[in-house]
Amino acid sequence: MTQVEDQAFVTLATNDTYCLGALVLAHSLRKVATSRKLVVLITSGVTTHMRSLLASVFDLIQEVNVMDSKDEENLALLTRPELGITFTKLNCWRLTQFTKCVFLDADTLVLHNCDELFDKKELSATADVGWPDCFNSGVFVFHPSNETYKDLVKFAVEQGSFDGGDQGLLNMFFRDWSTKDISFHLSFIYNMNSNASYTYLPAYKQFGKDVKIVHFLGSMKPWQYSYNPSTGDVQFGSECQHVKEHLQYWWHLFIQFVHPHLQPECTGLAGQLSKMSVSSDQQEEGAASPYELALGGSHARQFAWERGQIDYLGTDSFENIKQKLDNAINGSQN
Ligand code: UDP
Ligand code: GLC
Ligand code: MN
Repeated sequence: MTQVEDQAFVTLATNDTYCLGALVLAHSLRKVATSRKLVVLITSGVTTHMRSLLASVFDLIQEVNVMDSKDEENLALLTRPELGITFTKLNCWRLTQFTKCVFLDADTLVLHNCDELFDKKELSATADVGWPDCFNSGVFVFHPSNETYKDLVKFAVEQGSFDGGDQGLLNMFFRDWSTKDISFHLSFIYNMNSNASYTYLPAYKQFGKDVKIVHFLGSMKPWQYSYNPSTGDVQFGSECQHVKEHLQYWWHLFIQFVHPHLQPECTGLAGQLSKMSVSSDQQEEGAASPYELALGGSHARQFAWERGQIDYLGTDSFENIKQKLDNAINGSQN
């Protein structure tokens, strides 16, 4: 596939814990063979070791200064005091070496190739499930520009943000998003909010297989769930049954690509998780991609199939499946 040099997926991680999300996201983008560059914005809080892990999967690591709304009042209304720092996201407009970018929160996970997002213009985004006349700022298409960056910072200083985070600010800045032109509205399949399908399960049943990007919005992030290192199962309560396959896939990528390289010198959860020992079975299962694993026996393979990620011409080709069946019938392992 031809690589597009002047367009990029961009994410943000201000600390080692959010870097866990950024790393899994980047690996999920590599798995679907994106033709675009991968960029991560970091701040001084990210450790040297974590930077080396980021460098192994991102094309560009851009250090930026922390920007914080410090708007405690509105952040309290949002019940997310930690999100003032999301103003740092505005730095993405300074990536002027690229003509067009897609911003993805570090708590998103890509299930299918979605490079077609680059056909869209600034500012394209999905409606927020909390207030659908606003867009959700976890996934959006933008055109880097120093001019827009300056205007955004001026706007932030003069007007602030109604939610204390970037989403309130961006919605006031791009205020005609909901009415201007439907082509700026991205389908929900590009920002499937992990809380939403719970409230509208029949729609998830109908359209869930088309989802391309999952957004684990809310205070409980994939990296905060307990993971059983001997069985490979993520422990979740009944409230998130609908996203369990996505959480399981997040952990599959994490165990395969990220966990083996973590070091105790990483800070936050990244340091703690480096001490978790994973059984060799799980490492092995993690070592093969969902596409490479043969049918059956593997959670990851099963989840990939259930998501409709079927590699018709490769692993899952008729010839391979037939071979697998023949082997099983003849009692030989392959
Ligand atoms: N973020 C970060 N450090 C933080 C909080 C947030 O780097 O301490 C970044 C990260 O990319 C994250 C995004 O800002 O995905 C938005 O925050 P979050 O996803 O937690 O908000 P939600 O989508 O749950 O409202
Ligand atoms: C949201 C968005 C997130 C944003 C936050 C703060 O819920 O998902 O991307 O950073 O609000 O505005
Ligand atoms: Mn998010």
